[in-house]
Amino acid sequence: MLVQLLSSTLTWLLVAAASCAYLLRTKRRPIFPVVNDYPLDFFRQRAHREYRSNAKKLLADGFAKHGGPITVLVPGGSKIVLPSALSDWMKTNRDLDHQQLVREEYFDRFPGFEGLRAIHSPDNVVIDMLRAKLSAQNESILPAVDQHVAAALEEHWGDAESWHAISWDRDTTGIISRAAASVFVGPEKAADPEWQALVQTYVRELFTAVGKLHAWPAPLRPLVQWFLPQTSACRTLVRQARATMRDVVDQRAREAKTAADQGLEPPRYDDAVAWTQAAPNNADSNKPEAGDIQLALAVAALFTTTEALKQVLIDIARHPELVEPLREEIRQSLSDRWQVGQAALANMELLDSVVKESQRLVPLLVGLERKVIRDTTLPDGTRIPEGSHVMVDSSDMWSPEVHEEPESYDGYRFLKRRRAGHKATQFVQSSREHNVFGGGRHICPGRFFASSELKLCLAHILTKYDVRLKDGYRSAPIPSGFYAIVDPAAQLEVRRRGVSTGF
Ligand code: HEM
Repeated sequence: MLVQLLSSTLTWLLVAAASCAYLLRTKRRPIFPVVNDYPLDFFRQRAHREYRSNAKKLLADGFAKHGGPITVLVPGGSKIVLPSALSDWMKTNRDLDHQQLVREEYFDRFPGFEGLRAIHSPDNVVIDMLRAKLSAQNESILPAVDQHVAAALEEHWGDAESWHAISWDRDTTGIISRAAASVFVGPEKAADPEWQALVQTYVRELFTAVGKLHAWPAPLRPLVQWFLPQTSACRTLVRQARATMRDVVDQRAREAKTAADQGLEPPRYDDAVAWTQAAPNNADSNKPEAGDIQLALAVAALFTTTEALKQVLIDIARHPELVEPLREEIRQSLSDRWQVGQAALANMELLDSVVKESQRLVPLLVGLERKVIRDTTLPDGTRIPEGSHVMVDSSDMWSPEVHEEPESYDGYRFLKRRRAGHKATQFVQSSREHNVFGGGRHICPGRFFASSELKLCLAHILTKYDVRLKDGYRSAPIPSGFYAIVDPAAQLEVRRRGVSTGF
């Protein structure tokens, strides 16, 4: 159908007119030097190729040459990258907005993208809930996460005491997804394979759809989104999530009514369904549906935390000398009775350092991405116009001015810095030198939960399993512009140790 539509002359005329209008509108002279502008590269093919595969060098060379802000041409436009010295200016500037950027770059108005839209719904229900309930203080959620991690590991990694390969994506995503679901969706659905498949598929289809849409000229995207298989899958999954969650909410309401009729206390639920249901319903703002909220949580939490787990697993497998000290720390923190609590997790300082070090070396090249929502002015007086897309350079993370031997992996790096009195050495702490969780008013509100989840997963994994990389396998993150993904084809082998939690 799309082919037929695009083959009509009228459609092509409209496309040409819309594209010209778009190009005229967006064609503005870059304010800062462009680092990937090449002679005769009229269609920007080389510029985009260099951006996709070589962005780290483009940024390093650009900053070395120009010593200040630079412009990078990317498919669909250009981005301004500021030196990290401007991080504080970025964090406090009200002319810059993270949420507007997400809305536009991830097309949150398209049908099927309700899971994305709910993250930034006008009543802020998701972010307020995360800040209030998933803080570093919340003890009550940990037992459920702990139980579900144990069950998910059993299911995904199994009991075999001989070395065997795990299914890399399924058997890591599955554990994080279920650990998160124990707090997001609660007991009815956390262990339900259909629900797990639904949220995981939604996240995958949504991010793939966003990537595909970016490949089309902006004026065509509202049309194209009706025809992509991924956007269509998202629309179906939103309908299914809404129906499932309406059943859960209705069932809980029935239980509460039955209890009240019998003069009993209603059952208590400690999960995102209950917390967001209890949030005041601001009549002006149309609270998102429970299903949309669940998808929003999965979109924000699933990929990010799974990537972190994957990278730590690879790094621990590459550095077996870390395993025994980590096991000892876990044993001491949780005691012989596997007593899970925030204090125990806080005591896992080496594990914290290992996770942060793994995060440091996956080259996320920029942070603090913002849209300029009103013309704004840099401290040196340079004006940046409304509509620009700005971010800061993250290369402090691997700069010799910040870290000794920055290119090598040192699991003890942040522990040593912590003991030497450096600031912001913990995994959840974001700073100019390590801005993986962003900063300012949009700093990631899920970072405490991500930390708890990762520590509990790794405590179970290290206690119960040996891990190694398949002989001969060398992994490297796959760069994709300013971002990188952990090797999607990593080959991790595991075997059960014959030890159970509770030691
Ligand atoms: C290792 C895992 C994670 C990483 C690396 C990560 C990273 C980030 C980053 C870079 C931002 C943008 C901050 C800024 O630009 O200032 C962000 C925002 C956000 N994150 Fe995370 N995140 C992680 C896990 C989570 C989890 C588990 C949740 C939910 C439980 C979550 C929920 C959110 C939300 C809702 C926002 C939007 C905040 C806003 O717009 O104000 N994240 N995250």
